[in-house]
Amino acid sequence: MPGLLRHAPWELANKRLDVKSPEPIQILSVAGGSADLLLRLLLILNRKKLNCQIEVTVLDKDKSALDVGAKIAEEVGVSNNFHWVHGQAKDIKILVPGKRFDIIEIVGLLDYFPNERAKQVIAWGG
Ligand SMILES: C[S@@+](CC[C@H](N)C(=O)[O-])C[C@H]1O[C@@H](n2cnc3c(N)ncnc32)[C@H](O)[C@@H]1O
Repeated sequence: MPGLLRHAPWELANKRLDVKSPEPIQILSVAGGSADLLLRLLLILNRKKLNCQIEVTVLDKDKSALDVGAKIAEEVGVSNNFHWVHGQAKDIKILVPGKRFDIIEIVGLLDYFPNERAKQVIAWGG
């Protein structure tokens, strides 16, 4: 698991320590598929008792990949942490309106796009 993804939630949680009811840490996975890495991350964080809720939004155009992730999340007891969103990355503003994210993960998508298209995808935030 990439170190950045593994350590970022701890850093964010520590920064929120002095807030009584901290907002959940929001993670967005664009083209996340079955969110294998994030499912594993959630298990690690739960085991080590992170002092902050984590909410993960997984967006992918392949409904069957999302269904696999949702099934595993249910089986390993982290389904409450996940929102599975079916659709194209380019429609992210419509599919996930008004939500702000602390961590955005895009693995295995932009590599396949021409530079201009990749820029459009990551420019959705304006
Ligand atoms: C190589 S997989 C990576 C999956 C996951 N990020 C991972 O690292 O395990 C690429 C994923 O991108 C999704 N995908 C490809 N083009 C997409 C698009 N335009 N919008 C949303 N998802 C897309 C595919 O359905 C597939 O699940």
